[in-house]
Amino acid sequence: MMDLQQRPILITGGAGGIGRAITLRLLSLGYPVGVLDLDSAALMALEETALAGLAPIADGRLLTYEVDITDYGAVQHAVEDFNAQVGAVFGLVNNAGWDEARPFVDTDPDFWRRIVDINLYGPLNVTHAVLQRLAAAGRGRVISIASDAGRVGSSGEAVYSAAKGGIVAFMKTLAREHARQGLTFNSICPGPTDTPLLAGFDASGRLQEALERAIPMRRLAQPEDFPGLVAFFLSDDASYITGQVISVSGGLSMQG
Ligand SMILES: NC(=O)c1ccc[n+]([C@@H]2O[C@H](COP(=O)([O-])OP(=O)(O)OC[C@H]3O[C@@H](n4cnc5c(N)ncnc54)[C@H](O)[C@@H]3O)[C@@H](O)[C@H]2O)c1
Repeated sequence: MMDLQQRPILITGGAGGIGRAITLRLLSLGYPVGVLDLDSAALMALEETALAGLAPIADGRLLTYEVDITDYGAVQHAVEDFNAQVGAVFGLVNNAGWDEARPFVDTDPDFWRRIVDINLYGPLNVTHAVLQRLAAAGRGRVISIASDAGRVGSSGEAVYSAAKGGIVAFMKTLAREHARQGLTFNSICPGPTDTPLLAGFDASGRLQEALERAIPMRRLAQPEDFPGLVAFFLSDDASYITGQVISVSGGLSMQG
């Protein structure tokens, strides 16, 4: 049996949406989890949930950091503190992301910069902050929550798609660079998922209904559709799987 308490996991955006479901699952499995999120209220709510035992917490330990992942210095500081408090990090889940649906022709460089900062530079910052430690330990897993937008495109999400496609390529390249050190890097691509991010695209709910009609399984993904795959990628069973990309989309996208 793996001693999961010796395998601390960092997750970005772990206080909301998909990330929160992943955080609670990893805690329930017994992993120490460090959450980097910029939403202080969501971090407090997460701590309360964990403390109140509303989540089936086993031996997992939760540390939270109010950090914007676009700030490299703040990320470094949080990673150092997490390492000092719970030991050498074993896994990173790059989950935080953001977008607002707009036709590319109506956008401007400030908007592009914001999207690229959060969705591309953010994961670069956090991955860079943990990578030397993982390589030195000769063990480790990085899992990036990318998007099907980065694989097949998504109308209204041109720059976001570019950033997410970039993350997929980034994971594949690190998978090659660090394979001999025993590190793995994989991407999970959600399809449309029922979270505040998607709700922000269309308050009327019409977009969500149209997506449900288009998805073969006739429903949006729920945050709980993702933690199982993350836990698998973190497990010993996945130690020979690297550089891969898996869509979780109810069949909306099917890759060859
Ligand atoms: N919801 C979808 O339909 C969908 C589809 C494909 C991919 N994704 C991806 O899944 C991931 C999770 O998305 P979600 O739907 O759960 O979003 P969400 O908005 O519901 O939650 C995102 C979390 O990340 C945090 N966050 C955002 N920017 C941050 C930053 N700069 N620094 C630190 N924390 C930050 C937020 O505070 C929030 O807690 C994202 O990478 C997103 O791009 C979502």
